[in-house]
Amino acid sequence: MRFFASLSLAALAVASTSGLTATAQNSAAPQVALTPPMGWNSWNYFAEKVTDKDIRDSADRIVANGMKDAGYIYVNIDDTWEGERDASGLLHTNSKFPDMKALADYVHSKGLKIGIYSGPGTKTCGGFPASLGHEEQDAKMYADWGIDYLKYDLCSFIPDVMEKQAPGDKAAQMRLMIAAYDKMAKALKATGRPIVFSLCQYGWDAPWEWAPALGGNLWRSTGDISPDWDRIYAILSQQDGLAKYAGPGHWNDPDMLEVGNGKLTIEENRAHFTMWAMLAAPLLAGNDLPHMKPEINAILTNRDVIAVNQDKLGKQGTRAYSDGEVEVWTRHLSGGALAVAVLAAGDSRYSTHPFHLDLAKLGLHGPQEAKNLWTGKTVTLTEHMPIEITTHDVQLYRIASPK
Ligand code: GLA
Repeated sequence: MRFFASLSLAALAVASTSGLTATAQNSAAPQVALTPPMGWNSWNYFAEKVTDKDIRDSADRIVANGMKDAGYIYVNIDDTWEGERDASGLLHTNSKFPDMKALADYVHSKGLKIGIYSGPGTKTCGGFPASLGHEEQDAKMYADWGIDYLKYDLCSFIPDVMEKQAPGDKAAQMRLMIAAYDKMAKALKATGRPIVFSLCQYGWDAPWEWAPALGGNLWRSTGDISPDWDRIYAILSQQDGLAKYAGPGHWNDPDMLEVGNGKLTIEENRAHFTMWAMLAAPLLAGNDLPHMKPEINAILTNRDVIAVNQDKLGKQGTRAYSDGEVEVWTRHLSGGALAVAVLAAGDSRYSTHPFHLDLAKLGLHGPQEAKNLWTGKTVTLTEHMPIEITTHDVQLYRIASPK
């Protein structure tokens, strides 16, 4: 559910003055999310139906199916856990979540961390109570529960505050939005508990320019994802140009993973996961873990691909060039290594007219020893080598010593 239909995209391109300075950024030196957060979030599969039991079951599965060992640490409850506020303003959980502290303790007992969801307006996107006017109180409650991650979703702040306080003045509306995120950032900081702060405001007003300064660890760079290749590819395309804003402690967030959801083919699942790894995107799985197929588990736990995502240099990959519907993306890794992804965003390229890899366009000279991170095999990449690649599939190579 969304409340922002009345704001046009063109209007949202209006630049804003955040008033946040480099000093503020330095003083908010990140202690969390030094690599892109990894975990699981309830929204993409359970949506509003999620319960305490689903969260416990998911935590159990993450431990049992190898995801925890592969790095998936955050178990995040999305919207619809909220009940009503009492006379003191304290927000209670609804009947689906009888005891949030006990749930947090349970998730922690598994060696995992727990995340929660709210927003700066009066209501969340699902229409449940959000944090407007209760920021400090809510942040303290999260810290008391032992919450490790907050996703803060704009939604009703648009009609509640932006449109009400600054009707017709888009730039002023954006300043109000930034101030609201700053307010919660300060409230979280005041708790003294390290809590990952995830801004969910759909990429409005270039959050990559102002979110790091207020202590945002990740910010959505687009609208919502769905388990559909066209949507996934559209989001991927919108990330080009944002690489310079990502780094340890602050990441562009092209939204949570749809791997294993909907009707995505195995190739599409693999390509989606690969490209999110190349983007240094948060890897928040969003699938039905108790019923996950082995081939989906194998994608989500591919250690070599995860190592690309989690590379400590924190440099986001970029599109090097495209040839028709085949795209080549590169990502610089620590130790001088290079990841190269070849993506068939559209039609297949067979041996009749295969795609030819152009190493010179990647700044490489002559044959390169590489590892194919999906087959595990060592390969030699040569100038203009043909690569057969089927619709929506990908090849991912790691070149340890590029020449
Ligand atoms: C918005 C967000 C989603 C999800 C829902 C919950 O649409 O972008 O990721 O959190 O709200 O209501």
